[in-house]
Amino acid sequence: MPDDSQNTPYFEANRARWDESVPIHAASEGYDLAGFLRGEKTIYPVEMHEVGDVRGKTLLHLQCHFGMDTLNWARLGAQVTGLDFSGAAVERARELAREIGVTDATFVQANVYDAATVISDQFDVVYTGIGALCWLPDIRGWARVVAKLLKPGGFLYVYEGHPMLWALDDERDDRELVVRSPYFETGQPSEWVGETTYVDGPPLKNQTSFEWNHGLGEIVTALLDVGLRLDFLHEHREVAWQALPWMVRTDGDSTAKGYARRTAWQLQPEQRDLCPLMYSLKATRTA
Ligand SMILES: C[S@@+](CC[C@H](N)C(=O)[O-])C[C@H]1O[C@@H](n2cnc3c(N)ncnc32)[C@H](O)[C@@H]1O
Repeated sequence: MPDDSQNTPYFEANRARWDESVPIHAASEGYDLAGFLRGEKTIYPVEMHEVGDVRGKTLLHLQCHFGMDTLNWARLGAQVTGLDFSGAAVERARELAREIGVTDATFVQANVYDAATVISDQFDVVYTGIGALCWLPDIRGWARVVAKLLKPGGFLYVYEGHPMLWALDDERDDRELVVRSPYFETGQPSEWVGETTYVDGPPLKNQTSFEWNHGLGEIVTALLDVGLRLDFLHEHREVAWQALPWMVRTDGDSTAKGYARRTAWQLQPEQRDLCPLMYSLKATRTA
């Protein structure tokens, strides 16, 4: 892993893109803010089932974006803190909390790697959701931060795109599963240029981003090495967004697009046992 200062330009480019994405996402059909404001729950069913009852628990959401998932956990009874390095995201999250009358949510602007420095509390649950770990250069450094932020007995829950999925070529039209990008963590990030974000919306000014993949073994070993106990690791055949153009919705609706919350996408029937698309894991701090 390169030293931190080497990553500063990548963090800055990514943050500029995320800052710009916040109003776009808040206005998008994909994020369905109107549905969220109407009180519909948008935590994925897998997450709700696997995390279990959060009533009365303290929950820290790392890389919380503009707080929708964080506040959904609050609606389910958790006392929440969200952290994100995008000032625009944190500001919007605070507004959103006010709009829905959640008064005890805290949102902190910081890089994940500084989280244990800027937050002195420890939590019952540390949660991280889809599309978060790919922005982090050093999975072992992330695991050290997570361990510091957990109370003894507390647990980490991750629901994420599978590193195998991130490694696949998503621009093919022949429906072949072809590995194009690194599966393992690399010292240098992959550079991506995307005109828009992953949901509907106008073109961005900040089109370049830098991402790192982390192999499943690297993620799990990083957590074990900081003393966490792995409770489960589930690999899923469904993905929460249309990750590859030829994926089909599990509810059979071929017209819907994007990043909907109440459905999932799968590979073609003959491909479904070939490749995991997401994973979820729970790891507990025992001492
Ligand atoms: C795709 S969002 C994940 C949130 C949630 N799953 C969602 O879909 O709304 C990724 C978030 O990570 C944040 N982020 C990226 N790199 C970060 C870093 N190094 N430290 C803190 N936040 C970071 C971005 O600002 C963005 O809000």
